[in-house]
Amino acid sequence: MQTQNYIGGRWCDAQAGGRLAVLNPADDSRIAEVPDSTAADARAAVDAAQAALPFWRATPAKQRATLLKRWNDLILEHQDTLGALISLEQGKPLAEGRAEVAYAASYVEWFAEEATRANGEVIPAPVASRRMLALREPVGVVAAITPWNFPAAMIARKIAPALAAGCTVVAKPAEDTPLTALALVALAEQAGLPPGTLNIVSASREHTPAVVEAWLDDARVRKISFTGSTAVGKHLARASAATLKKLSLELGGNAPFIVFDDADLDAAVEGLMVSKFRNGGQTCVCPNRVYVHSTVHDRFVEKLATRVGALKLGPASDGGSQIGPMINARAIEKIERHVNDAVAHGAKVVVGGRRVRNAVAAGPNYYAPTVLCDATPAMALSCEETFGPVVPIFRFDDEAEVLALANDTPFGLAAYFYTQHMARAWRLADALECGIVGVNEGALAAEAAPFSGVKESGYGREGSTHGLDDYMHTKYVCQGGLS
Ligand code: SIN
Repeated sequence: MQTQNYIGGRWCDAQAGGRLAVLNPADDSRIAEVPDSTAADARAAVDAAQAALPFWRATPAKQRATLLKRWNDLILEHQDTLGALISLEQGKPLAEGRAEVAYAASYVEWFAEEATRANGEVIPAPVASRRMLALREPVGVVAAITPWNFPAAMIARKIAPALAAGCTVVAKPAEDTPLTALALVALAEQAGLPPGTLNIVSASREHTPAVVEAWLDDARVRKISFTGSTAVGKHLARASAATLKKLSLELGGNAPFIVFDDADLDAAVEGLMVSKFRNGGQTCVCPNRVYVHSTVHDRFVEKLATRVGALKLGPASDGGSQIGPMINARAIEKIERHVNDAVAHGAKVVVGGRRVRNAVAAGPNYYAPTVLCDATPAMALSCEETFGPVVPIFRFDDEAEVLALANDTPFGLAAYFYTQHMARAWRLADALECGIVGVNEGALAAEAAPFSGVKESGYGREGSTHGLDDYMHTKYVCQGGLS
């Protein structure tokens, strides 16, 4: 377990000496302390990244790829310990912690391979005396700011393409889950990443604005890649305008999940269980609104309730638990507020609907997996992301009506639907206003797929062949006088 910042190839404390306690959400006990960094640490990290940039961008792509592959191998060698660390500081069940490590490594491996394929173009010139080329080059120093819900995967998905492209990185993991990110950086150091190419500072909720402002104000930082709330994403877009940084923003969602009357109901229940209850519902692509056709509504709810009622709630330390604690008190309070508001507006609790505290779920952060019926657009949970294990079910009667409801949100990250009707599947896939669509499928994430939203869910693509572009510029070179 690493508990210091890593700047310019050295592990160090925050310059002002501040420390930040990392808590286990299972019982709020203290796991470790990490640096509570300030603007001075953030600037030192940029100094190191800027100093390393000329060397790293000139390093042949094949060598960058070799280092990334070594990092990938080390991550996978440490899958059990890293998985346990994720579960310890984030709360997700052990099997999910291990799975997240493989998911994180898949981005490192993917971008190691993409590094060697960052081809440019030779453009047919309009006159014989010229050669025209489009060259791809790294944007420069990248700031990666990552969330707590996937402490390994989100940082890997940003750092790996940045390093593959020849950028150097300054990173700040979420205040709730810095330990996984620090451990990943320790493995990158072991893999032989040169000093200064990857730098990381941790900071408390109180000091995070100063760290981020230091990066926003610094013209040497050419790109910010952020995953988190839409409100913070909008602030980053406004504040980075002064130095016109490139941005990748993966922001909030409000995913619809639609079950048509011709759907395979068992498959739809399965897809919903997978997509909704992954990480206890703390995933930005989780279905937030479930629309079920009136004619299959009661059967679907009955099947779903049976599955949800059987989910095992408990700490990650209990190997059998399927739903862990929520990340912190603020998360629990939001879930409780949404459920209470829904009930006050006429929703019926089919399963769950309450906090749990007992001998197994012994801390204050557990919420029972919940199914609510008779949800309506008047409820807060229909327009805000709940980020917890709550399934609100809305009835609908026709396709045009449900499509309008699904799109009636400023967000546009993911959407899901279940139908056996081929023409409808393509109509919906085209008409849904979002960046990611699941057709008869609940598990969508993959390193080879472009992940991102539209509307107020952000812009920029992570993963896939497009993921490298976000860390590169295209430079036009025209050589004349050749005839
Ligand atoms: C997220 O919740 O931000 C990412 C989820 C994923 O990669 O599937």
